[in-house]
Amino acid sequence: MKSIKDVTSLLSTLEFLEQSGAGEPLAELSTVKADLNIMSARKLFPPKSVEPFVAPVAVNKDVPKRSVAPQLKKNQAHLEDAQKLAASAKTLNDLRKAIDAFEGCALKHTAMNTVFADGNPEADIMLIGEAPGADEDRQGLPFVGGSGQLLDKMLYAIGKNRQDDYYISNVIPWRPPGNRPPTREETMLCLPFITRHIELKKPKVLIFVGATAAKALLDTKEGMSKLRGRWFNYTIGDLTIPATVLFHPSYLIRSPGQKKHAWADLLKIKKALLSQDFS
Ligand code: URA
Repeated sequence: MKSIKDVTSLLSTLEFLEQSGAGEPLAELSTVKADLNIMSARKLFPPKSVEPFVAPVAVNKDVPKRSVAPQLKKNQAHLEDAQKLAASAKTLNDLRKAIDAFEGCALKHTAMNTVFADGNPEADIMLIGEAPGADEDRQGLPFVGGSGQLLDKMLYAIGKNRQDDYYISNVIPWRPPGNRPPTREETMLCLPFITRHIELKKPKVLIFVGATAAKALLDTKEGMSKLRGRWFNYTIGDLTIPATVLFHPSYLIRSPGQKKHAWADLLKIKKALLSQDFS
């Protein structure tokens, strides 16, 4: 504990833990906690109210092709442009410039800033959210508003801080006007950039924050109740990266009763990171 700031941060984290019902005799929670305690003892000093719905990126076989094709056709040239720009980036810095050079997504023209990433680019863990909000748009950094502060507290509660332990970005680099959920087309146009971002960053572990990021990157229509707290293999190029899904902090702000489930998921993440067992 180095400073008053650390104490304040710890107190905020404790507040999250208290609100999460971490002390409640929740069966799911106590099993994870028991496992974790055994593991920590061995390694004493180791070196959803309503989630905004966005249609998944995978083509829904039940929807007649005619309803999707005209939109996709309209965006085809922009999508190819995004793919070419993303593929041409050889470093994270190149990728930032490639996104800045992309003119195919209308969101760019209403946003104040392009929001690329924050945190430690060398960290093992990469978190990916949905899209910037008003604070993020103003500052040009992801997760710096109220939901970002809660996310930082959640990660701090399992011993991780943004400066050292994780790197953070979004599927969409521009704020959708009025914080509306990004459309399917906007998500598709931005996907080449976030997938290249993952490929260049090469994290050891991925955490998708909220339903939009999880559905887009896992290419699934499943809801948060099926996705959260599980491990998936995310494959990009030659890389296969363990990936999990966490409730979005803005959902937790709206539905504080879900914090106990988020805390159970965080404990699972901590346990997997310690054991390197992502099954
Ligand atoms: N919500 C997100 O998903 N990302 C941000 O950067 C801020 C809020």
